[in-house]
Amino acid sequence: MKRRKALKWTAIGAGGLGALAVGGGGALAYVWSNAKVDTVGKVDFDTPLAIPPEAESETDSAGSRVFNLDIRAGRTQFKPGPATETWGVNQDYLGPTIRARRGEEVAFAIANGLDEETSVHWHGMHLPAVMDGGPHQAIAPGEVWAPQWTIDQPATTLWYHPHPHGETARHVLNGISGLFIIDDDRTDELNLPRTYGVDDVPMIVQDRKFDDAGRFETTQPFMGSQGWMGDEILVNGTLGPYHEVSTRLVRLRLLNGSNSRLYNFGFSDDRAFSLIGTDGGLLPEAWETDRIQISPGERAEIVVAFEPGETVELRSYPADFGYFGPFSRVNGGDDRFDVCRFRAADSLADDTEIPSAMGTAPDVDGGEVAEERSFTLSGMSNINGESMDMQRIDFGVRVGTTEVWEVKSNDAYLHSFHVHDVQYQVLSVDGEEPPPFLRGWKDTVFLQPQKKYRLAMRFEDYTDPNLPYMYHCHILVHEDRGMMGQFVVLGEDEEIGTVPENSTVHDHS
Ligand code: C2O
Ligand code: CU
Ligand code: CU
Repeated sequence: MKRRKALKWTAIGAGGLGALAVGGGGALAYVWSNAKVDTVGKVDFDTPLAIPPEAESETDSAGSRVFNLDIRAGRTQFKPGPATETWGVNQDYLGPTIRARRGEEVAFAIANGLDEETSVHWHGMHLPAVMDGGPHQAIAPGEVWAPQWTIDQPATTLWYHPHPHGETARHVLNGISGLFIIDDDRTDELNLPRTYGVDDVPMIVQDRKFDDAGRFETTQPFMGSQGWMGDEILVNGTLGPYHEVSTRLVRLRLLNGSNSRLYNFGFSDDRAFSLIGTDGGLLPEAWETDRIQISPGERAEIVVAFEPGETVELRSYPADFGYFGPFSRVNGGDDRFDVCRFRAADSLADDTEIPSAMGTAPDVDGGEVAEERSFTLSGMSNINGESMDMQRIDFGVRVGTTEVWEVKSNDAYLHSFHVHDVQYQVLSVDGEEPPPFLRGWKDTVFLQPQKKYRLAMRFEDYTDPNLPYMYHCHILVHEDRGMMGQFVVLGEDEEIGTVPENSTVHDHS
């Protein structure tokens, strides 16, 4: 596969301390040196990859599957030296993997043991707005939030994370995140790798920078436009992880759980692998590639084949697309990371496959379009010229209809566009057929600057004229600065209502 860089600005003055002035619409000067991170060959890979435990659950008298989640502060020893103050769910850093089946009713008791308000949002889940866990479902310290709903979407890898108004970046950085895996009958019949933690491996990929006191650093690179960037990679909270491979085929459920960094995943020997699923489910058929680039919030499920006895690393390579000129260097576009080492046993079980037919293709494009909307993301805080206002409902969509949203990043900044409540279909990218990795169900899409993404989505149920769902940039510093809007799903004759004043302390317990 041929790969090319968007622009060769990186050739200018690599290394050395210096400031570079770039003309055009005002002088732009920045420190060039030290802006590039490269950890390839420098990671020890001496710690087994942590596998988040599967969350325990009980079935209550009504038949719901009930999970207890305790959000708490703790300390984590990521490396020698001072421990890091972290947050987690039922543990000190990150949270368990929640697993439920399509058709099942799930119920949660989520206790906030922090001394500040937070929330738990179910990223990618189709569910009522009041259960969504966005900024209007804040959980006060000491309180318990108890959402419940019925899982009604295909098998896939979703995730959960806090979404408190203006504070999401810090809460996610501190460690509250976990996977939410949905299973269904159709996928169970496929012979894909599916032994959790063995040949079906969750990988929550995050970048972090540690200061001398062991704390997560929260300084933005000079001239950076994406917020905090780390110079080391954690996978499921493990620094320098290795995973023992015992089967020929291994499925990786990759989550870009970082605040702002893009990853361009590939292997150290550039071997091919198969992309089998995206945000909302399995692809109809696998796509063979040697790179998959995902932005914050996106997931990619891949299957890779190993040879007995070999060792190979998963890496993140410099970005293949999306960066514009000198913005690349200061925003991580040229960085390279060793992510995880795979150590294959001398003999490998070989009883799974990549089926020729897997998921169902998105089919939103066939229907009648009730409304077209356009969204322009600009700067670091605006969508269509406005910043998020908790009390402002930007628009209402009508239940039972299909809409097409045309989304565009107006400048050279990177954005990652996420919509709550629905999985959407990417109809086109700048008028062209979307690339294979955007042909499955998506809830978050990386916006290459200046390109128009047409997204088709259907709003099938869960009307509420007062409580909105969010759409926003998933670069968390942008989201926190207000690059977010709110929409409601309206019943047949409903009109847009008013967000309850006290909605930030909404509690269903
Ligand atoms: Cu993953 Cu509104 O968020
Ligand atoms: Cu979400
Ligand atoms: Cu953004």
